[in-house]
Amino acid sequence: MEIVICKTKEEASRKAADLIAALVKADPKCVLGLATGSTPVEMYKCLIADNKAKKISFKTVKTWNLDEYWGLAGTHDQSYRYFMDKNLFDSIDINKKNTHVLNGLAKDWRKEVKAYEAAIEKAGGIDLQVLGIGSDGHIAFNEPGSALTSRTRIVSLTPQTIKDNARFFKKAADVPRQALSMGVGSIMEARRIVLLAFGENKAEAVKGMVEGGISQFCTASVLQLHDDAWIFCDEAAAKKLKLKKYYAWRAEEALKAEFA
Ligand code: F6R
Repeated sequence: MEIVICKTKEEASRKAADLIAALVKADPKCVLGLATGSTPVEMYKCLIADNKAKKISFKTVKTWNLDEYWGLAGTHDQSYRYFMDKNLFDSIDINKKNTHVLNGLAKDWRKEVKAYEAAIEKAGGIDLQVLGIGSDGHIAFNEPGSALTSRTRIVSLTPQTIKDNARFFKKAADVPRQALSMGVGSIMEARRIVLLAFGENKAEAVKGMVEGGISQFCTASVLQLHDDAWIFCDEAAAKKLKLKKYYAWRAEEALKAEFA
């Protein structure tokens, strides 16, 4: 795990975007796993800027998103399909047919998740998976108690996640109680992980993920077992880490090697 601690979320987002841009340049047919939520928005802005400046093209890139609220149509303004279109896809040269988000209105969720995983496999697997982290340590919607081997499936959100996400809805009662989500095991198959975490309300979760024991009660902690996981955070989110200074110089070396 490399932990890149930056002064601001803007700086961290730019650095994370650089890793993605380098992959897209080196392999224009790469497969990206994408996340929604407030955290990756700034990084998506960086990728849009790179695309507009013609530094990178997404024409042949394929994407699969982590999750979707169960019961919301892709046209709903709080659906994750809508979010992706508005915050990234509509502003880059990607072929929309190459972008995939789970269908929150699928007739049979079992068929939906099976087909989703099969399509990822057929595409050769995910080269780089973008993640955020919930204040309870979740990745995708793998809430505390999710098996670390879990696959894409239907999940129930915790009251904490419903509370955290209520800011996007008119009222907490409007937040769907369930979602379709890639599993922890599915996420771990990505060849590279880029997780972003910003703000003090993520500090406890970041501490659990990086320095806690590996546990299904902080599903992000499983990333300690991934051999190419990068955590980009601001100082507020890194606040509770014990080995901050060590991570900083180690990450500096790792980034140098990455862009050498
Ligand atoms: C989103 C997702 C979630 C979020 C997490 C943090 O696709 O899978 O795990 O990354 O809930 O959300 P924000 O970024 O809004 O704090």
